[in-house]
Amino acid sequence: MGQQGEREVLFTGDDIRRSCAQSPYADITVRKPGWTKLLILAGLATTIGSAMPVGYNIGVVNSPAVIIKHFVNESVYTRYEAVFDRHQLDFLWSCIITIFLLGGAAGSLCGSLLANKIGRKGALIVSSLLGIVAGILFLCSKYSNSVEMLLIGRLLIGLSAGLTQSVMPMYLMELSPLHLRGATGVLCPLGVTFGVLMGQIFSMYSILGNEQGWPFVLALYALPMVLCGLLFPILPESPKYLYVVKKEPQIALKVLTKVRDMNQEHLNDEVQELKAEESENDVENESWTIGRVLRDKTLLLPLLLVLILQAGQQFSGINAVFYYSAQIFASAGLSRTNSELATIGAGFCNFLMAVVSIPIMSKYNRRIVIQISLASTSFFLVLLGLATIYITLYSWMAYLSIIGVLGFVLCYGIGLGPIPYFIGSELFEVGPRPSAMALGAMANFGGNFLVGLFFPLMQARIGAASFFLFAGFVVFMFIFMRFYLPETREKDVTEVAHLCSKGFKSRPVAVSQLSIANTEEGLNSPLKA
Ligand SMILES: *[C@@H]1O[C@H](CO)[C@@H](O)[C@H](O)[C@H]1NC(C)=O
Repeated sequence: MGQQGEREVLFTGDDIRRSCAQSPYADITVRKPGWTKLLILAGLATTIGSAMPVGYNIGVVNSPAVIIKHFVNESVYTRYEAVFDRHQLDFLWSCIITIFLLGGAAGSLCGSLLANKIGRKGALIVSSLLGIVAGILFLCSKYSNSVEMLLIGRLLIGLSAGLTQSVMPMYLMELSPLHLRGATGVLCPLGVTFGVLMGQIFSMYSILGNEQGWPFVLALYALPMVLCGLLFPILPESPKYLYVVKKEPQIALKVLTKVRDMNQEHLNDEVQELKAEESENDVENESWTIGRVLRDKTLLLPLLLVLILQAGQQFSGINAVFYYSAQIFASAGLSRTNSELATIGAGFCNFLMAVVSIPIMSKYNRRIVIQISLASTSFFLVLLGLATIYITLYSWMAYLSIIGVLGFVLCYGIGLGPIPYFIGSELFEVGPRPSAMALGAMANFGGNFLVGLFFPLMQARIGAASFFLFAGFVVFMFIFMRFYLPETREKDVTEVAHLCSKGFKSRPVAVSQLSIANTEEGLNSPLKA
């Protein structure tokens, strides 16, 4: 037990042991499965090779925008003898930027299909292949003087990003034992924020974001993608997929014992869980398409929760704040380089919070974390809005706005950053899960796309008051989550799904509080109330 036990304390804390002691399986559990080599390897390989490239491609295009735009203009001129004015060039550039998000939305939808057809791991391999092709196109675009390659590359890397975001959290969570699912669930957002930071750093003018370097900086992410891709043959496929979807119980159990590094007799709870999900899945002979998930009334509430959290993460204005932050820092009196560095600092805070959120996700309940995160996020958005409006009146308002930006990034990072990515895995049973996760990831890309499209217009019309709109949306989310988000941490998915099955008439919160109040009765008959 020795080392394993120490690691558990590090990641899960005492309260989990307590809740485990109360679990009906407590007497069977000899030693809890933990971070085995294979699980760590899967986590590392997908975080660096799949999630990081997603963020990288978000962060990399801001700094060298002017330089790449110049290339685009020259290219259409020398190739098609088309002379673009500023507006046409801006339009073409925003197409190159946003086609990534459209690709992301499409990729997320394909994610569910692929995850069930060729498996979770298979879908991640397809995502890596798409990403590598995109990298080659970026590398060649300058030398073959082709804007088309740039466009197609952005579309492909968008598809790849969408696939990754809908499949990777599901893959890792299905691979993990119950008490580590929160931790592995945040690896995807962790990798994404790390990628954003890397993209921001490498694309600085003095590093690679210049006339000679830009094709390389655009393609750089493909390197870790290739290296981690080489590990795929030894990574395990999700046992849950093999058991429930593929109906290969023998292979599934073999993989499970390998991933847990334990004999099968010690994995009773998990095998029971797989069997339960399978029989549940068998009752429904029709397969879970996206259309069916949308029509099913018992899934209405969990679906809304996922969609609102995913789209809401973007409607909180996180990307608008990042876009605005350089300007805010500059108006606080920082020089150009310094405000560039301060923006990277904000990116660093964002990443740091993603790291901090790993122990937070395994120690604290989802409900309380998301409520604190939403309440404080809306506070800092209002602060940021007010400070930006009055920035010309009082000079100290500039510092207040810096506090607004940093506070926003920190509070966003505790809950609103990580939770939306994996909450779908905790709300949906394995049958409808891929479709629900895919719709969620699509809502995230769609929200990002809408904010990218409308924020410049909003900013032109109402200026810094746009932040109040973001704050308003966050307050709406706060209310909705307070009433309807059930506690999902370390809960059996089947139980959670039952709590939410009555649409808006569900009272998931009342029941879960009751089951905390009198644990024994609550566990045995959570639905009697
Ligand atoms: C694009 O290039 C053409 C030809 O070199 C030039 O006349 C035009 O001003 C450029 N447009 C922009 C927006 O830089």
